[in-house]
Amino acid sequence: MRELQIQTSVKVYSYDELEPEMASLVDTAKKMTQNAYCPYSGFRVGAAALLANGQVVTGANQENAAYPSGMCAERVTLFAANANYPDTPVLALALACYTKGHFTHDVSSPCGACRQVMLETEHRFGKPMKVILYCEEGCYVVDSAADLLPLSFVAENLEQ
Ligand code: THU
Repeated sequence: MRELQIQTSVKVYSYDELEPEMASLVDTAKKMTQNAYCPYSGFRVGAAALLANGQVVTGANQENAAYPSGMCAERVTLFAANANYPDTPVLALALACYTKGHFTHDVSSPCGACRQVMLETEHRFGKPMKVILYCEEGCYVVDSAADLLPLSFVAENLEQ
């Protein structure tokens, strides 16, 4: 038997401690919560992706009466970024959640499907993507989406 220990480092910053470029990305993600279409859950998720060309691509969750047809903010945003700028790495993705009249106090982290898509974005460009999760209590930062999905399924697994 072998036991593998997998460690992830998550840095928790106060908003004021963020670099200006990251603070501005968080501001944009917070604004984007107001563009969510979420009549079923009332849970607004805003996202902002910073690309290597300086462009910021934004998104928000989009729900549907046929529930599974909806899409999370992270995937709305990354698919739009990758569709419009297929050769440009995504350097950072900021997320914010808003429900019941306020930003969430505790951290909400991305769902499994979104983590998988984040990982693919990192892999296709060969560059780590910083992920910043804003909540009232702090800004949770991982330097790479891979940190959110250890022991993941990637393209190389198809080639064995
Ligand atoms: N949602 C996101 O946008 N991102 C996530 O990572 C988790 C959940 C959305 C989907 C749905 O519209 C609402 O939040 C409640 O699940």
